[in-house]
Amino acid sequence: MNRRQILIFASGIVACVVVAWALVAVIKERRPTRTSPGGAVLITAAADIGGPFTLTDHTGKTVSDKDFRGRHLLIYFGYTFCPDVCPTELQTVAQAMEILGDKGKGVVPVFITVDPARDTVAVVKDYVAAFHPRMVGLTGSAEQVKAAAKEYKVYSRKAPGTKEGAEDYLVDHTSLLYLVGGDGKVKALFKGGTRPETLAKELARLTG
Ligand code: NI
Repeated sequence: MNRRQILIFASGIVACVVVAWALVAVIKERRPTRTSPGGAVLITAAADIGGPFTLTDHTGKTVSDKDFRGRHLLIYFGYTFCPDVCPTELQTVAQAMEILGDKGKGVVPVFITVDPARDTVAVVKDYVAAFHPRMVGLTGSAEQVKAAAKEYKVYSRKAPGTKEGAEDYLVDHTSLLYLVGGDGKVKALFKGGTRPETLAKELARLTG
């Protein structure tokens, strides 16, 4: 394996451990109400996850969680340079929205970067447009992004072994989908790898 493959491989392992750790933390907090056959972990009323954020959207406008009240949000934290996991998950979101059609109109798919240093407004704009016309991309200052990630208990860090000053680094990060209700509270979590059909079905059930 070359250096990049090793980095990706190591990141994959770390990502798995992080997801497992996050899930254990969540499950300890509140037992899942049920696990769907498609592998989605659904947790309702996850009181300790989620919260306020103030970020910049892909059009350059400052937005906060309050601007989305009355609509459901399907939030994914990731980064645009992610080689595999992020594009796969956002593709799943796009497919689920496609399946939902008109029934998904009240759900706003949201991508929040964990890598604001590279994910500028322009970069995020192009990225979300590639997945879904209604997808909202959010970035901000390092502090704003850190605060948002903290509210959602999202873990992220530059992959171990990243050289000082390197521009092509990988980021290890939590890979979960958060469904936020119109009241701003997290209604459910879906783990990475949830099938689009399952996601669509659960979204219809939880947002209908
Ligand atoms: Ni990723």
